Amino acid sequence: ETDTGYFVIDDPTVDSVFVPREEFSHKGNYGKANIIGGSYGKIGAVVLATKAALRAGAGLTFTLAPACGYEVLQTVCPEAMFIKGGVDFIKDFDTDSDAVCGIGPGLGTDPETERSFLEFLKHYAKPLVLDADALNIISKEEKKNGLIPEKSIITPHPKEFERLFGTTKNSFERLDLAREKARLLNIYIVLKDHHTQVVTPEGNVFYNITGNAGLAKGGSGDILTGVLTSLLAQGYSEEHACILGIWLHGKAADWASVKYSKEAMLPTDVIDELGSVFKELN
Ligand code: APR
Ligand code: MG
Repeated sequence: ETDTGYFVIDDPTVDSVFVPREEFSHKGNYGKANIIGGSYGKIGAVVLATKAALRAGAGLTFTLAPACGYEVLQTVCPEAMFIKGGVDFIKDFDTDSDAVCGIGPGLGTDPETERSFLEFLKHYAKPLVLDADALNIISKEEKKNGLIPEKSIITPHPKEFERLFGTTKNSFERLDLAREKARLLNIYIVLKDHHTQVVTPEGNVFYNITGNAGLAKGGSGDILTGVLTSLLAQGYSEEHACILGIWLHGKAADWASVKYSKEAMLPTDVIDELGSVFKELN
């Protein structure tokens, strides 16, 4: 066996990764997911990520967002707990909490948020799920080494990847660059695309073959962030969370497209179809 390889996330792989729920269990067995993001006008992003975290099975789900999101979040996601943060949201965050954090959907990039997020990164060593504006903020920093906690999962779309690590000529070069960065920074890179690729710190690449063009709609990525955070909270390893999470997200989208069409399906429908996918797995 060589040290690295390319793999397709097929049904047997997913079956070997998925862990069914124990009959004699309680919410403490399924961890805490903490979704951090949202800003005025972008509360929807954090609502979607929160709903997705709930539907993906975390024992407890928290959302840290600015006060302007309070009523919406408590109404649309009554199962989640709301932690009010200002622009200086990290101040309100308990860094000793054993919750797994997914940060970025709708976060915004105003200077106070940027400062506060970068400060948070300095004091936080556990793996994170980083997406959207969290990645955009990191992109502006000259030195990325040591900024992202090791073993974190980052989920850039092609443009966000480019902002982070620079331009490449084509998707082959992009994948090579991702493998180099995943090794160097000791992180998992989820390269979001039609066939999303998971790149591990060891240099392995896992191709996803679920999902469809109905996902080409604002909000689809926020759901993936919620799912990944939820799976990590439940105790899946980073690699397994990536493999299962990306497959689940795409498969739920495939169900949603059957029900509603690729044109009309909404990210909310994808969240709702997560249930159909779990039923298939169980
Ligand atoms: N086929 C299969 N999957 C697709 C397709 C396609 N044609 N198009 C998109 N997807 C999937 C991607 O693989 C990814 O999982 O949908 C998701 C899209 O994620 P994002 O690009 O992050 O989109 P979005 O949800 O709009 O992001 C919300 O965050 O990234 C920022 O600027 C972005 O403000 C926006 C916000
Ligand atoms: Mg996105």
